[in-house]
Amino acid sequence: MVRDEATPVAVQAPAPALLQVDGVSLEYVAQDRIVRATHRVSFEVQRGDRFVLLGPSGCGKSSLLKAIGGFIAPTEGEIRLAGAAVREPGPDRIAVFQEFDQLPPWKTVLANVMFPLQAARRLPRAEASEQAMQALVRVGLADFAKAYPHTLSGGMKQRVAIARALAMQPTVLLMDEPFAALDALTRRRMQEELLTLWADAPFTLIFVTHSIEEALVVGNRILLLSPHPGRVRAELDAQRFGLHSAGSADFQAQARRIHRLLFEEDRPA
Ligand SMILES: Nc1ncnc2c1ncn2[C@@H]1O[C@H](COP(=O)(O)OP(=O)(O)O)[C@@H](O)[C@H]1O
Ligand SMILES: [Mg+2]
Repeated sequence: MVRDEATPVAVQAPAPALLQVDGVSLEYVAQDRIVRATHRVSFEVQRGDRFVLLGPSGCGKSSLLKAIGGFIAPTEGEIRLAGAAVREPGPDRIAVFQEFDQLPPWKTVLANVMFPLQAARRLPRAEASEQAMQALVRVGLADFAKAYPHTLSGGMKQRVAIARALAMQPTVLLMDEPFAALDALTRRRMQEELLTLWADAPFTLIFVTHSIEEALVVGNRILLLSPHPGRVRAELDAQRFGLHSAGSADFQAQARRIHRLLFEEDRPA
């Protein structure tokens, strides 16, 4: 459609967010007591967001991802994806974890990436193989398609896990501290590669970390969660930060501000 610049554009009602987390409390029953992991957490993720959940260990970040994944049910509130309540796991939500052993060791790299395409997406073998290869090319591991996971470095294993997740073309990609067990340089490179993958073909990402710097680099929006049980403390715009700005005065000032918001109880947002 050709549109004259002077022609007014019809004002549209904002579309509902892709993912809505609405007043979600999560609890575990542990022996004789109930552990509350999150308390009435609400946030919305838009299509194409790189949405970061940031908070100290034990504040319920992983629990929130598990609930979005459909593996645990809220005791209060609701999670909706594209308007429909999340009730069970599905191939529209795929997770990448910190652990290096998330790849079955008896399958080659290619077979690891193919497996969910055949099992959950029900693609025929040839098509699954082709899509898996494309995903491996994207993460720079085409030459390792026939290798077994134990022959790969930690960073390479995480690339395979990312390729496997992206090949599934999930509605939201969930990442739970995916780079936390990597050495500092590899971690930085993986952050850069993730941002490049996103820039090449944007996807919707929910990324969990307890690193303030990683949150600022990876996210366009950051949700700050208070210590146990996790409550929303603030939501921040991090669009202007990236690897290029790490170390700048603005970046450092924002990192200090987040630190205050997270750890100074009597200064809520
Ligand atoms: N399976 C479980 N059973 C009992 N308590 C749990 C379980 N999983 C997590 N918790 C508790 O819930 C809280 C939040 O945990 P988690 O979501 O793993 O936090 P985070 O990922 O932010 O470190 C913690 O207090 C943790 O001990
Ligand atoms: Mg966790």
